[in-house]
Formats: sequence, structure tokens, C-alpha cells
Amino acid sequence: MNDELSSLVSEAQRAFAEAADAASLENAKARFLGKSGAVTERLKMLGKTPPEQRAAVGAEINQAKQAIETALDTRRAAIAEARMQAQLDAEAIDVSLPGRSQGTGGLHPITRTRNRIEALLRTQGFAVVDGPEIEDDFHNFAALNMPENHPARSMHDTFYIGDDLVLRTHTSPVQVRWMEGHPPPVKIIAPGRTFRVDSDATHSPMFHQVEGLWVDRNVSFADLKQVLSEFLRLFFERDDIRVRFRPSFFPFTEPSAEIDMAFGAGKWLEIAGAGQVHPNVLRAVKLDPDQWQGFAFGMGIERLAMLRYGVTDLRLFYENDLRFLRQFS
Ligand code: DAH
Repeated sequence: MNDELSSLVSEAQRAFAEAADAASLENAKARFLGKSGAVTERLKMLGKTPPEQRAAVGAEINQAKQAIETALDTRRAAIAEARMQAQLDAEAIDVSLPGRSQGTGGLHPITRTRNRIEALLRTQGFAVVDGPEIEDDFHNFAALNMPENHPARSMHDTFYIGDDLVLRTHTSPVQVRWMEGHPPPVKIIAPGRTFRVDSDATHSPMFHQVEGLWVDRNVSFADLKQVLSEFLRLFFERDDIRVRFRPSFFPFTEPSAEIDMAFGAGKWLEIAGAGQVHPNVLRAVKLDPDQWQGFAFGMGIERLAMLRYGVTDLRLFYENDLRFLRQFS
């Protein structure tokens, strides 16, 4: 390559090196390789070169052209690379960080407790059934032998919705609903949500109960004692559990009992209400109390969960604090 062409190549290399971004690089390119760029002009002049020198001169110009194109490509790549790096720096992407993973969920402690209760009572022959959370007066109260002016109906503890509807205050209405549609023998449990106007460390306006009902020709209070004692022993997995049936009153059972339990010499804790189904409840579902009898019970699921896990404030179950919830999954 002659000196003149060599210095043209050097000039192009310098111009490209000085171009700080893609736009100025393209401008610089035009000066050498564009329509009237230095290289292009020289190629156009070839026609005026004496024929015998043309091949050699042309080859030299093409050599220079190639060198300039190579310099251009190299600079283009460098500018693109620098731009990418600047972007990465601006976004501060640390490619060595671990990826974001989707954490694994777990069952809520109340759900776990409910599942456990269902599994254990299934083994004793109870079917798991369901009922509505919004109830009418008849199923929540009247059919359960709670006539119109019964204190349990007072505004104080019941969420009323319109004239005749309430958020069920207990799961006992499922007893009525189930027996309305299914002739005895009936052996069911009905776990679910219940609602009362009440809120402190041991009461939440929404809480869970599990209702039990066993009605047949001669299901007795002795069966009730057996079923619940066995259930509590299995539920808590402790041999030192003591169970006590304390006389009590519920409108829908007669006789009625409050079931207390204690671990070893510990203090008695109320765990459930129960009793023999009141004849008026059987009559409300058109069963003859002289033919059919049985027992019912109602347990608080939160209460069972608190005792099993040693939780002292019921509100923790509903604050959705993962530091609390993670301990159960
Ligand atoms: N329904 C009662 C309550 O919410 C609990 C209860 C007591 C249910 C005795 C029963 C029962 O089935 O026999 O306080």
C-alpha cells in the first residue's frame, strides 16, 4: 500500500477511535466509506488511471478499504459493549445474586387442627358434612329448642343480617339441616366457621367449631363419654389426659354437660359442650323421640389448637404474621 493510502487508513482509525458514540461513528464512516467519502472517490478515479496500472492501484485501494472497514467494525463493537456495560452499571444488576424463588406455602394451624379432628373422628365412624354459614332463625335457634325470647338471640352476641338471617352463632344448626334430609341412623361431624360479637384474647368474632351428632335407636350418654374421651386421648397424644363431664345446661340437649380436660395435675379447661339430643330437637325434624335418641357435642377448634400448640392468645391465628404461621408448616 502506498504512503498516501496508509495515512488515509491511519486517519480513519484515529477518527473512529475519537467517535464516542454510535452516531458520531457513523458520521466518521461517511467521511471515508460514504458516497463521496475518501475511499469511494479514489475508486471512482480508477477509470482515469492508465489501464496497465489499474489492477495494481485498484487492489491497493481495496486493501485500504478493507482495513478501514475492519477498524469500523471493531469500534462499533466496542461502543455497543460500553453502552451495555453502562446500562448494567446503572441498573446495578449483580448477576452473582441467587434467583428469586417462589416460597412454599403451608397449612394454617387452624386448618391443620381441623384436618386432624376430622381424621380422628372419621376413624370412629363419623362422616364429615357441611352447612351454610348464613342461617335462618329456625335452624340457628328455634329448631334447637331456643324459643323467641331466648337470651342467645340477643343483639349482644349475634350478627343479624336483615330480618330473619344471622351469621350462624354455632355449628349446631347443621344437626337440624342434616336430619331434615337424612333419616337415622345419623353419625356426622360438621366443622366450620361461626360468628359472634365478641373479641378479646380468647374470643374472636369469627371462630371455628366442630359439631358432632350421633342418633340411632339407643345411642346413650355412655357412648358420648367413650367417643369424646377416646378422641381427646388421640388428639393430644398424651396418656396423662383427664376428662370430666360437668353438669350444665343447653337448650338443645338433656341432660347436658360441659366437658373439661386437664393434663396430669394441671388445671381443668373447658373444651366442649355436649349432651343427649333434646326430644324437641328430634320433633323439629319430625323424628319420634320414643324411637330415636343420641348425643350431640360442640367443640371450639381454636381452643383445641391453642391447647395442643401452647398458644395463649387466639388473635395470633388471625394476624397473618408469617413469623407465627411458619412455626406450624
Ligand atoms: N352450640 C353450643 C355453643 O355454641 C355448643 C354445643 C353444646 C353444641 C352442646 C352441642 C351440644 O351440640 O350438645 O356453645
